[in-house]
Amino acid sequence: MAIDIRWDKRFEVGHLRIDHEHQVFLDLIRSVSQASETGEPKAWCMRLLNEVKKYADFHFFSEENIMLRTGYPDYPEHQQKHAELLALLDERIHAYATDRISLEAVVVYMFDWFAMHTTKMDKKLGKYIDGLKE
Ligand SMILES: [Fe+2]
Repeated sequence: MAIDIRWDKRFEVGHLRIDHEHQVFLDLIRSVSQASETGEPKAWCMRLLNEVKKYADFHFFSEENIMLRTGYPDYPEHQQKHAELLALLDERIHAYATDRISLEAVVVYMFDWFAMHTTKMDKKLGKYIDGLKE
């Protein structure tokens, strides 16, 4: 059961830099999904998962800097959500590393999180930044 991981207009936040980083992030999730389908060695899959984790960490930090720079009022809860997502991702990666869940399950988790977070919280941030230009 392969999920279709591709960029869709519904993920657009309307901020050039954030949208660009989200596209890279989705690319990384797609490479894990492909590795899962072709049955790549576990050590390689772990490297790909770590790449996702490092990029997620970087991307969240960078989004938080945008929030701080623009005086975003919902920064505390958004930052808190980022921390939660990272902790959960870490947990899932660990579960895969210790053979408790499949790689496919990690992919589904990452993609769901991506779709949920970008279409809800990140869109709210995009709207706020847009409003500053008026
Ligand atoms: Fe975010």
